[in-house]
Amino acid sequence: MSNMNLTLKIWRQKDSKSKGKMVDYKVSDISEHMSFLEMMDVLNEQLINKGEDPVAFDHDCREGICGMCSMFINGEAHGPDRGVTTCQLHMRMFKDGDTITIEPFRAKAFPVMKDLVVDRSSFDRIQHAGGYISVNTSGNTQDANALPIAKEAADKAMDAATCIGCGACVATCKNASAMLFVGAKVSQYALLPQGQVEATERVQNMVKQMDLEGFGNCTNTGACEVECPKGISLETIARMNREYLTASIKG
Ligand code: SF4
Ligand code: FES
Repeated sequence: MSNMNLTLKIWRQKDSKSKGKMVDYKVSDISEHMSFLEMMDVLNEQLINKGEDPVAFDHDCREGICGMCSMFINGEAHGPDRGVTTCQLHMRMFKDGDTITIEPFRAKAFPVMKDLVVDRSSFDRIQHAGGYISVNTSGNTQDANALPIAKEAADKAMDAATCIGCGACVATCKNASAMLFVGAKVSQYALLPQGQVEATERVQNMVKQMDLEGFGNCTNTGACEVECPKGISLETIARMNREYLTASIKG
């Protein structure tokens, strides 16, 4: 396949106070082997050479681990491929002459800071509210490996722990619900003995913080699961709801 010429329609917004708008750009000679972010680098180099402001976007690891690359591409979080983040999306998913729309992840709890960069510190505050365990480090601490854990529980906890906090679930959900993210974080601990000590407060505090941050309610559309780059299952939401109910009964 020969290289591609593309039209990009990109959300430009100076800062959190300004009104944004879509702006058209052309990029040419884009290889199908490039990642989506490399294509964005080509555009930014072009803009810098012309003395224009490059498009601000978040990125860090560029290998699907950090969860920073939050782009809404052609109406989908992380673009048209499945099970990938934007940095893992390849230009071979597009064809010569395509127009690609690129927007930030949109949610009340993720305010736009500039262009495609959103503030996801609401996720951090949910984590701080309960996404941890306390360990006695007095010197008599039990070796974690001395605790036998059923293989199924260990596997499911590990699956939940693969959530990278990217926010695609929120951006995809018509209610901007964060239930898949919080479900993953609660499940990660609920399945392990180390998570039992603080289980009651954890689920209550994390759900409380989620509501305070302005995330919407879950209406079981399942869109989050489809767009999650890490394949986090809706089962985690069901587990969180069970944990929440148990915590409410316990008081
Ligand atoms: S649940 Fe999936 S989509 Fe949501 S933050 Fe975690 S990895 Fe991203
Ligand atoms: S840049 Fe780290 S997940 Fe995409």
